[in-house]
Amino acid sequence: MTHELRSGLLPVDEASLRTRLAALTLEQKVTLLTGADAWHVPGCPEIGLSSVLLSDGPNGVRGERFNEERDPALLLPNLAALAATWDTDALHRAGEILGDEARRKGVHVVLGPTINIQRVLNGGRNFENFSEDPLLTARLGAAYVEGIQSRGVGACPKHYVGNESETDRTRYDVHVDERTLREVYLAPFEAAVAAGAATVMAAYNSVRGTTMTANGPLNNDVLKGEFGFDGVLLSDWRATQLTEGPALGGLDLVMPGPEGPWGSALVAAVKEGRVPETAIDDKVLRLLRLAARVGALDATAPESGLASTPPPAERRPELRELTARTFVLLKNDGFLPLRYDGPRRVALIGPAAVAPAYQGGGSAALNSATLTDPVAGLRSALPSGTRLTVHRGVPSRTNLEPLAVEATLDTVTGRPGGLLEFLDADGDVLLAEHRHSYSLSWIGFPGAPALPPSTALMRLRTLLKAPRPGRHTFALSGTGPLELSLDGDVVLRSDSVARDGMEDVMRRSADSRVTVDLDGGDVEVEVLLRPTVEAPDVSLVELLLGHDASPLTEDEEFAAAVAAAREADTVVLLLGTSDEVESETFDRPDLSLPGRQDELAAAVIAANPDTVVVVNASSPVLMPWAEDARAVLWTFFGGQEYGDAVADVLYGVAEPGGRLTMTFPRAAGDAPVPDAVPTEGCRLDYTEGLLVGHRGYDAAGTEPQYAFGHGLGYTDWDFLSAATAPDARESLAAGKDAVVTVRIRNTGGRRGRQVVQAYADRVDGDEAAPLRQLVGFASVELDAGTEADVEVRISCRALSRYLDAGWELPGAPRLVRVGPSSRELPLTVTV
Ligand code: BGC
Repeated sequence: MTHELRSGLLPVDEASLRTRLAALTLEQKVTLLTGADAWHVPGCPEIGLSSVLLSDGPNGVRGERFNEERDPALLLPNLAALAATWDTDALHRAGEILGDEARRKGVHVVLGPTINIQRVLNGGRNFENFSEDPLLTARLGAAYVEGIQSRGVGACPKHYVGNESETDRTRYDVHVDERTLREVYLAPFEAAVAAGAATVMAAYNSVRGTTMTANGPLNNDVLKGEFGFDGVLLSDWRATQLTEGPALGGLDLVMPGPEGPWGSALVAAVKEGRVPETAIDDKVLRLLRLAARVGALDATAPESGLASTPPPAERRPELRELTARTFVLLKNDGFLPLRYDGPRRVALIGPAAVAPAYQGGGSAALNSATLTDPVAGLRSALPSGTRLTVHRGVPSRTNLEPLAVEATLDTVTGRPGGLLEFLDADGDVLLAEHRHSYSLSWIGFPGAPALPPSTALMRLRTLLKAPRPGRHTFALSGTGPLELSLDGDVVLRSDSVARDGMEDVMRRSADSRVTVDLDGGDVEVEVLLRPTVEAPDVSLVELLLGHDASPLTEDEEFAAAVAAAREADTVVLLLGTSDEVESETFDRPDLSLPGRQDELAAAVIAANPDTVVVVNASSPVLMPWAEDARAVLWTFFGGQEYGDAVADVLYGVAEPGGRLTMTFPRAAGDAPVPDAVPTEGCRLDYTEGLLVGHRGYDAAGTEPQYAFGHGLGYTDWDFLSAATAPDARESLAAGKDAVVTVRIRNTGGRRGRQVVQAYADRVDGDEAAPLRQLVGFASVELDAGTEADVEVRISCRALSRYLDAGWELPGAPRLVRVGPSSRELPLTVTV
């Protein structure tokens, strides 16, 4: 009840749930336990149960249509970015925005936050996770859960547990010792459950020989038993393959549906006594409890997952401010912030300047109604009289960018965009719709197909309005044979193959291209796709029409960018990764910025040393040019307000308030776990034990390029003193927090934000433990020249360790070091 009051979830009348349960037959009960389709849980009007709608998550609420520009959502910075605030209040606020979005879209449960650990340096989904550190992940994740649920919407922390990398994610089997499992990987889930999470998602992978959708010891005993989780444990999409094991192993809901391994097979298992009916009843009760909490029991509101109102524009200033707070200033010799009365010729260079990555790839991706790019952001920030030149230099993506919608006309509706038709084998049109995107995709599951049934051909038509005369390149990629015609002539055929199955479904296929000369008149464009859908479990249909109107060759474009750098007073160079490399279903192939970006950086900095490099990427990349740049600003995947936030921070309107939540290595091999490829037999051994992330660098004595917790901001600080309250010992002994009071002073010239971090040395003789571990943090904002006491709360749990007998708080005093980063800890105090 306490969580419900705090969280905004509705109170539950348990007796009424039991009455409703009693009214159901076994068959009806079992029907409720598999999705009705890709995103809905079945309803049952007889007992007042509406269908519960689930939606990804976690950096916005996509809604019930996959990759759908007609149902846009607010796009927040990615979770790793939000985590860089090291601020539970900021995470709570972000969660509230998600909760409001969910309500706007009729969504009952947001599938997030993702609270796995950034264990593996090249992990494809690190961008979706908070941190390499369990304490930080646990605190921020819990705040996010509470924020979402404060709006009466359920959260779904995922993926329980051990899904730290993507390679072979449906097959690998994690082996990890008990202490590490508890202290590092379970801790964030424990905190999320304590925060009242209404649901949890079971991961694809196995742990200790049993798949997580059927892992009785971890699901029944730990999650539902020890942690006291009373909500719904639902499976990751198509993760459940068996009937009995998951039914007995703690899973409550198979997603998606309507087909799946439960249904009649589970009814039979109950009738034959292989699964007790009490297990089914418990699952249904949990489902009803969820429905009651999120307002889907005796609901009066109409059910709809399609938003009737657009994303609220009044949220934009808040998002812009939040985005700027996530940016981490890695290096600065005083070059930033740029001055308004300063240089008059600014060169904005780099692929992320013109086509930034606003988000990572995979199920987290969504369509935003507005995107601010750095060119527009800088243009509106610069004082009049400044000359801004813009050059891409090199591409960061392998595929061409989608054709610009505004340059095209759907002649049927008279609106920018194209007409998309689905045709059957006889050429009859099954469905025709106006689209305003040239990057289209559809996801399908057994019983819930991606496309209108009997689609044999898809036809996309538009009119390209008066393109610039000269050289144009067009590109096609998609799932199935494709054809492009311009003014009725076929100019390109491509035979991209379908990718089926959970393993590979989100990997983009490389595009096929053709370069043509256009005369400047309107051009009729037609694309045909014969979709190949042979998926046994999941299918993704994709259709991408790319376009590049640049008259320059790659070398000419590179040279033009370097020349522009030479002629400018100041260079802002924006480099980055994209959803082609940071995405679900695969890990990053290497740590370099894609394409020729490092080469571009070296050439630009050589041409003009007055260069700030802004990196638009989430997971660490190698930055061989960093020493030579005057400033390096890390900006993650900033979401829809990215461009304005970049301008705000470059010009000092906002401070880059972020601190790293993942260590940046000098070389890939410096990381405790550079990559994770399961061994023969698909075992994944977490042999580094507790020494994940920064703890591993400490243990190996390796100097990172930028340390965990590092971030400069725009002012300077003195850490003056640290002291514990006299009753700290008693507090801890009573299971309460100890408070360390840290006096700090803003010695710089402007108001700023600092994150005070506390790390405890290990207990003598505890060889498995990290040399130091994060035990508390707090942030503060102070005016220039002022000082304040900051209270860092250290919980009893943070100082405890998990031994055979359970959690134990070592009796010996602990040395706690305090400072602005894991490698800069000027103060000590004994707790
Ligand atoms: C992802 C989940 C996601 C689900 C539904 C899966 O592929 O692992 O995080 O919530 O799809 O889109």
